[in-house]
Amino acid sequence: MEKNFTGEAENQFYYIDKCAKIVAEKAEKLGRKLTYHIATFGCQMNFKDSEKLAGVLEQIGFEEAETESADFILYNTCTVRENANSRVYGRLGYVGKLKSKNPDMIIALCGCMMQEPDEVEHIRKSYRFVDMIFGTHNIFKLAELLSEYFDTNDHDSSEVIKGKKRKHNMVVDIWKDTDKIVEELPSKLKASFKAGINIMFGCNNFCSYCIVPYVRGRERSRKPEDIINEIKKFVKEGVIEVMLLGQNVNSYGKNLENPISFTQLLKQVDEIEGLKRVRFMTSHPKDLSDELIDFLKDAKKVCHHIHLPVQSGSSRLLKLMNRKYTKEDYLTLIDKLKKAVPDIAITTDIIVGFPGETEEDFEETLDVCRKVGYSSAFTFIYSKRTGTPAAKFEDQIDEETVKNRFDRLLAVVNESSGKYAKSIEGITLPVLVEERDRENSDGKNYLTGRLDNNLLVHFEGCDELIGQIVNVKLSECKGFYFMGEIEA
Ligand code: SAH
Ligand code: SF4
Ligand code: F3S
Repeated sequence: MEKNFTGEAENQFYYIDKCAKIVAEKAEKLGRKLTYHIATFGCQMNFKDSEKLAGVLEQIGFEEAETESADFILYNTCTVRENANSRVYGRLGYVGKLKSKNPDMIIALCGCMMQEPDEVEHIRKSYRFVDMIFGTHNIFKLAELLSEYFDTNDHDSSEVIKGKKRKHNMVVDIWKDTDKIVEELPSKLKASFKAGINIMFGCNNFCSYCIVPYVRGRERSRKPEDIINEIKKFVKEGVIEVMLLGQNVNSYGKNLENPISFTQLLKQVDEIEGLKRVRFMTSHPKDLSDELIDFLKDAKKVCHHIHLPVQSGSSRLLKLMNRKYTKEDYLTLIDKLKKAVPDIAITTDIIVGFPGETEEDFEETLDVCRKVGYSSAFTFIYSKRTGTPAAKFEDQIDEETVKNRFDRLLAVVNESSGKYAKSIEGITLPVLVEERDRENSDGKNYLTGRLDNNLLVHFEGCDELIGQIVNVKLSECKGFYFMGEIEA
């Protein structure tokens, strides 16, 4: 870690070039381009990181492959709940078999799960075929680590002498934390017309159930000018929608040399010419300011949607969760938001089965759901994360009770999202066309797009509309989504 970071991007371009030469030689031998595949788990942060990793791999000369039958496989992992980890081990079992048929394949792991020493130890011992492991703080080093891999391994079957054991050295580089932000490395957008933009990294909130602060490090904000310049660059390249990303966007800017508020940043983004839509997530209720709510009234491009995780409706549990707001505080915020922006869509995250959750606590959560009328909600069963305070709490809730509550919560959430959708059925609204949906048996081509409020609409149309905003009549509400018709 004793490294001079001045010009880190420049340093990485050196390794990109170095790897590019090796990859080009391999491609020539094979008579085809080398391919990569990134499988991403978890949240928008990880998806954004994957775009950065893809950018570097493409610069090196790899071409994207749809499936895991590729020359370079990267699993960008999540560890927010136990099932996220299990999914990664499932994929590793599968890819291990692929590698036994094609030993030149390179298998890499990165992301949040790799910040947990016990998991890394387990992989080192039980999944020895893995070639590279890095964490969340040093993704910018991908080319450097790949270069190290090429330097220290027999990586080309044609060069392995028959009978000789193939030299294998797992390259592992994990940092505990960092305060560095490396700008200017390439990235490859999943869709050419929309981009996630990191405005900050890490989290300082330490909600008692959550592993994120441990695996993503302390909160740090990017400079506003870097953010604005990046967005302008994307807009020049055809991006019309941006999503500003952070674990708690409302505390943006606090640690900057010249502190500015999230609202001040949002105002600057709202002014960018050529940009059509602005989204942001996630908002933490404890930091959502009146300044922001006020601005939402006048903003030109900011979508009328807010993701405001409540986690629980019980003030008692919220305290144990270290969320720093009460049920009443939350409902007051919701009132203010609805008054300021009457058509605002509100979505949330809810945890069921937090240690000590009583029937009364759970009823409070249902009550909040009914009062808010969420347009959609992500509901999670509490998962014990080693190292977090809640893992040591007594009264872990039994599985049957949790399952019962989860099903009841889902019913209430579905009812409220159905009600919300029904309230806009029949009207015509602008939709950003995102992708081709399917071709029907009758030969009609279907597209999928998103409303300003983040709801999905499916409608007939030609592929040329992808990436454009069109007016669509929401003819039929199907619960969470609509079937619609384009209006001229
Ligand atoms: N920074 C965001 C959320 C990041 S994690 C926020 O503060 O809202 C996304 C969601 O995963 C959380 O909102 C929470 O609902 C859920 N989550 C986090 N840790 C969890 C755990 N241990 N068990 C179950 N769900 C969890
Ligand atoms: Fe986790 Fe809380 Fe940070 Fe969100 S704010 S990432 S839930 S610790
Ligand atoms: Fe998962 Fe890491 Fe996001 S733990 S939810 S990918 S920040």
